[in-house]
Amino acid sequence: MKNKSGNSILPALLIFSLFYFYSCKHDPELSGIIIPVDTTGNNNGGTTESTCNKDTVYFVQAVLPMFQSSCALSGCHDAITHKEGLRLDSYSGIISGGINGSNPTNSKIYRVMVSSGEEQMPPSPVASMTSTQLSTISKWISQGAKNNSCIESGCDTTNVKYSTHIKPLIQTNCQGCHSGATPGGGINLATYAGVKAIADNGKFFGSISQLSGYKTMPQNGNKLTDCQITTVKIWINQGSPEN
Ligand code: HEC
Repeated sequence: MKNKSGNSILPALLIFSLFYFYSCKHDPELSGIIIPVDTTGNNNGGTTESTCNKDTVYFVQAVLPMFQSSCALSGCHDAITHKEGLRLDSYSGIISGGINGSNPTNSKIYRVMVSSGEEQMPPSPVASMTSTQLSTISKWISQGAKNNSCIESGCDTTNVKYSTHIKPLIQTNCQGCHSGATPGGGINLATYAGVKAIADNGKFFGSISQLSGYKTMPQNGNKLTDCQITTVKIWINQGSPEN
């Protein structure tokens, strides 16, 4: 015998479970924090040093792009969804979201990133932060979690390599969205093969230079610097080797 109500519940359950799987998990301790809407998405009001000190982790260059790529995703902590009241696409949002002084392990945002339990962020299917990314964030917090930026002097384009230039650039600015089970646009940039494919079809250069006919990348983030774009161009002109 057919049970009518049973038949109608099944598709609803399926849709619900799919929705649950793809939505960001809740973290009860972060509930109730409402971040005022900040449309700048950058570090307005911060300090800019005239040179980049290699021992300093700068918010604008190194930290914000990681949050934009791994946390401020559509349906998660972006301007529209701001899950748990958290917007992680600007300095003010990141600080009020759970940075505690200059102590990484007391900072909620860092703790959920290093956690391997239920509260781990970003949740699947977004890729977890890499150990390099975690140590960058930890160092930035230890240095006072400042709203700092610096001006890169010149652009060193000697010896441009995949391992030393392209891969780190992608890890910071792109990989959060372009890895894991459901990478943005179906494009996985966690592997050399994935990067090589967009280098060869012109979409790597087109999207970061924001040429017409290409989707603007990094999505929702600040445009890469001229130096970063030039570096990518040089590597592509070499034939995009895995060097
Ligand atoms: C916040 C998430 C996010 C970040 C960060 C991001 N992307 Fe994307 N990217 C996407 C999504 C989503 C799509 C698919 C867009 C669509 O189809 O509308 C996409 C599409 C693309 C495409 C295809 C573009 C086209 O015109 O077809 C390329 C190439 C790309 N991304 C490269 C990059 C690179 C390189 C970076 C880093 C510099 C980056 N993305 C950063 C989410 C992101």
